Amino acid sequence: MSSLRGSVVELSGTARDVHSYAEPEKFRVLHLDLALEVFFDRKVLRGVATLTIQRTVTSESPLVLDTRDLIIENVETSGARRLWRQTAYELGAPDAILGTPLVIDFPRDASQVRIFYRTSPRASGLQWLHPAQTADKKCPFLFTQSQEIHARSWIPLQDTPTVRFTYAANVKTPGELFALMGAPNGRSAPRTGKYQFRMDRPIPSYLLALAVGDVAFSPTGPRTGVFAEPSVLHAAAREFSDTERMLTAAEKLYGAYRWKRYDLLVLPPSFPFGGMENPMLTYVSPTLIAGDKGLVALVAHELAHSWAGNLVTNATWSDFWLNEGFTTYIERRILEAVYGSSMARMEDVLGRQKLDEDLMNLPEQDQILHIDLKGRDPDDGATEVPYEKGALLLKYLEEVFGRAVFDEYLKKYFGSFAFQSITTRQAIEFLKEHLLCGHDLYVDLEEWIYKPGLPASAPYVVSERLLFAQQQAGKWSTGEITTGQIAASGWTTHEWRRFLGVLPLDLNRAKMGELDRAFHLTQSGNVEILDRWLRMAVRNQYEPAYARIEEFLLTVGRKKYLKPLYEELMKSPDRRQWAMGIYVKARPGYHPITQMALDRIL
Ligand code: BES
Ligand code: ZN
Repeated sequence: MSSLRGSVVELSGTARDVHSYAEPEKFRVLHLDLALEVFFDRKVLRGVATLTIQRTVTSESPLVLDTRDLIIENVETSGARRLWRQTAYELGAPDAILGTPLVIDFPRDASQVRIFYRTSPRASGLQWLHPAQTADKKCPFLFTQSQEIHARSWIPLQDTPTVRFTYAANVKTPGELFALMGAPNGRSAPRTGKYQFRMDRPIPSYLLALAVGDVAFSPTGPRTGVFAEPSVLHAAAREFSDTERMLTAAEKLYGAYRWKRYDLLVLPPSFPFGGMENPMLTYVSPTLIAGDKGLVALVAHELAHSWAGNLVTNATWSDFWLNEGFTTYIERRILEAVYGSSMARMEDVLGRQKLDEDLMNLPEQDQILHIDLKGRDPDDGATEVPYEKGALLLKYLEEVFGRAVFDEYLKKYFGSFAFQSITTRQAIEFLKEHLLCGHDLYVDLEEWIYKPGLPASAPYVVSERLLFAQQQAGKWSTGEITTGQIAASGWTTHEWRRFLGVLPLDLNRAKMGELDRAFHLTQSGNVEILDRWLRMAVRNQYEPAYARIEEFLLTVGRKKYLKPLYEELMKSPDRRQWAMGIYVKARPGYHPITQMALDRIL
């Protein structure tokens, strides 16, 4: 098996995906037919995955698929005459990061393979929730999270973003539960326990998504809407009521929306991310429902993936910045169009602040846009660098060439590479040919994309509103103004994030108490504010917030907030005990991806 992994094959100008055992240079999955049955009592999916395969080599060669913790029951192949015949197969040695290769005897005349299998209750891409872990507490809930390499834990396939395929699925659920996939969804389909889906645009495997639970639908416009558990549906529809406007704004900038509908699915609180851009059905965390639309930048972000990521896809996880950097740039453009430039600039500045923090802590090789992830978990690359440094590069190009030219360029990029997976090299070639060429303006792409840190040419964004919040923080912490004199009336989440973000983590208990009494930060319902505030509370042993810390750790599932808060707690011996105690209680409720990340620090 090691020879499989070691061989580096040139595919359209680059090394192949190091996070997959599949060999797209020999075979390509064109279409997936999936039949799934959902068993909540055993936490098992039973499935039959039928793959239609295009062969690009004529020599005899086994077909290698990715799996992780799958129980394979039988494998059959067929040729043009659709006669299924059993074939020999073998599971290789499991790798902690990559899972287990499934090596199948694939006769020269075969064009399809079907695999009968079951998932493990520990599948890394699935979370099975008891009714008590949902908002309504009545029904169980199941959801998938395939990015980056977890699709292989619930479907045997070529789990690499290099390969795109269409799919059709039949899903059988118990009784009254509803099933949704990132595919056209019957919003008023009768609840028969049998659901069918067909996605006729080719997608990469990391965008495969399924959710099963008691959810209802509310429209937010002609092409947009929200699915959520009944008790949160109303608040969700209100919070996300601008989604249709965002969609229209994005289309105006980058060309027609190619996925027909854009719906949101609000997940239970254990969802490990803020959002996930599953096609036609973005998954969002319920923590986004802040009551004042203060966190809707995330909806703009996931929507932007409909162009950057879902339409034009990173070919490997080293090219992740092509997904996230482009998306973050577009996110801000959508925000500007819908809410004005002051709002977009605040997001830029807060993004830059997070980037600067990461750049101070990350080793140099992780500060590079085109990151080398060989032998590592692709999730190691999901820092602020691909997001914010990537977005800064696009902002820089916008400044150099002017908005009109750059907007046209991006439209052409999405049009030319639509429904393709591309590498950083391909993106650079296209940029040279269609933007840089013909201008004698100098752009140091090599430095931006292959060197650590930020080039001196990086744009520096200023937000007057955040500058004011920053000044207030400075004056207050030096004692120039009292707590009562902080001019915070009318502040949004953004100003609070800036205010807290520029205060030193080490304040003191008395000052924490003053702030809290004046602005009720411990009781804030906004996760972005709580993220910073609770870490300050740990650092300064601010006991009035301890109960809230425990509550936060037990109810919020977002890895991005949990990890820094646990890390802060683990820094001191006495709170360490406390943190471990909470973790023991909270861990069973966390998503497997979150558990894996936290097990490393606790
Ligand atoms: N695609 C990502 C989520 C993701 C990244 C899942 C890497 C698995 C591995 C999504 O679009 C995203 O970026 N979500 C962010 C929000 C964003 C506004 C920064 C999140 O969940 O925090
Ligand atoms: Zn994203």
